[in-house]
Amino acid sequence: AAIKKYQFDVVVKNVSRLCHAKPIVTVNGRFPGPTVYAREGDRVIINVTNHAQYNISIHWHGLKQFRNGWADGPAYITQCPIQSGRSYTYDFNVTGQRGTLWWHAHILWLRATVYGAIVIMPKEGVPYPFPQPHAETELVLGEWWHADVEEVEKQGNMLGLPPNMSDAHKINGKPGPLFPCSEKHTFAMEVEWGMTYLLRIVNAALNDELFFAIAGHNMTVVEIDAVYCKPFTTSAIVIAPGQTTNVLVKADKTPGRYFMAARPFMDAPIAVDNRTATAILQYKGVPTTVIPMLPRLPAPNDTIFVNDFLDKLKSLNSPQFPAKVPLNIDRHLFYTASLGIDRCPTCLNGTRLTASLNNITFVMPKIGLLQAHYFNIKGVFRPDFPDKPAAAFNYTGAPLTANLGTSLGTRLSRIPYNSTVELVLQDTNLLAAESHPFHLHGSNFFVVGRGIGNFDPEKEPAKFNLVDPPERNTVGVPTGGWTAIRFRADNPGVWFMHCHLELHTTWGLKMAFVVENGNGPEESILPPPKDLPPC
Ligand code: C2O
Repeated sequence: AAIKKYQFDVVVKNVSRLCHAKPIVTVNGRFPGPTVYAREGDRVIINVTNHAQYNISIHWHGLKQFRNGWADGPAYITQCPIQSGRSYTYDFNVTGQRGTLWWHAHILWLRATVYGAIVIMPKEGVPYPFPQPHAETELVLGEWWHADVEEVEKQGNMLGLPPNMSDAHKINGKPGPLFPCSEKHTFAMEVEWGMTYLLRIVNAALNDELFFAIAGHNMTVVEIDAVYCKPFTTSAIVIAPGQTTNVLVKADKTPGRYFMAARPFMDAPIAVDNRTATAILQYKGVPTTVIPMLPRLPAPNDTIFVNDFLDKLKSLNSPQFPAKVPLNIDRHLFYTASLGIDRCPTCLNGTRLTASLNNITFVMPKIGLLQAHYFNIKGVFRPDFPDKPAAAFNYTGAPLTANLGTSLGTRLSRIPYNSTVELVLQDTNLLAAESHPFHLHGSNFFVVGRGIGNFDPEKEPAKFNLVDPPERNTVGVPTGGWTAIRFRADNPGVWFMHCHLELHTTWGLKMAFVVENGNGPEESILPPPKDLPPC
């Protein structure tokens, strides 16, 4: 095992896209930011120095951070933000994980521009459980706004204004030639005929689940969220914000130039968004004057394609990489995810949009919850997040007015060390336009079931996949449906769980778990680092 060191300077830089220039917050002036490379078993030390005018914190999305929530990064959950002019060193071990993950700012909407890939190679001498690729490339998908993203965030909180959709999608920071003034902002990947390539695809978009496809070429999915899966071949993938997907592509078609393309998927489209980011798969030796072909992407609301794709996702579950699905469950949790309307005296129209889990809209605390828990500081949170909603109702069939009584609170769910948890996330279809991609910090989980309508506790569990369900860190809860996940709470700390659509997180679609210490120091939270930022 090695020590990998990085210096992340958070700096503001002028960047121009689609004929608009604006200052954006970046890491080391790069957009997307630098890729973090490590091997399974390495220690990674990243010093972040904040030269921008905003407070910042960085989250290493999908890294387990075993007993080490201090390095997880969500502002006010595991740390206070790094103030302007200050530094903080994220110091963590990469244990038992290999694959593609990513990092992003975890405060305000700064992750719109502050993000990059994390590539964890297998241990030295350990091959991939699939054909060795000739070369590998990261493809980080994102969004672009002409406006300042903090203004976009404010607008997202006001009812009566249209939601400010992004102005473009991007692949590796570049929208591609289907957007105005973007010819020169096109990412190209050169391939040699006959070779196989590994694409490490990250969805870093704030608010859009995306389809991705390559003209003329199928892809073989081999890994999701840094967990190997049973390989399968597909013409397109679907990827939610927060998720990562590794695919193999064979360059064995007529040598030419082929578009790779990404555009949104919405399972209940209110506004159909057809804008397509493109990049180029360029066969070596083919003149760049050749006009590329576009791939056929599924229609923006093609739920049949998506369900079929999701059904194919299964853990590899080999002797070397077994799926350790919890079979006996200690804690059964049932959370409803709702979007609604709330009073807001300071807002336009006196109302604002709100979001809740079990009818509780999460309120961000003023100091980090992990500190409050570790140092036993009273009055910061209540450990009484309800295991189920106060009252059952027809979650997916009731009228809009049936479920508007939300309360505010910083309430956490307390889980004993090493207990096994089943969590059913039930969407309520009031106002929802797309799947909620829920992300859990601190642990992966197994996606044992999903369905449309109200979850039926009598019937559904018998149909759960407890053999080779996909293991991930982010999963979509379909509009008007539910998703069931299982995990073992073996990582003591305070772990955020939230919708990875930034708009919904802002509205309050979030909560946190406190996983208690077990016995002795080996089963307890590590002491905090000395340079942990003060509030
Ligand atoms: Cu990728 Cu809490 O987020």
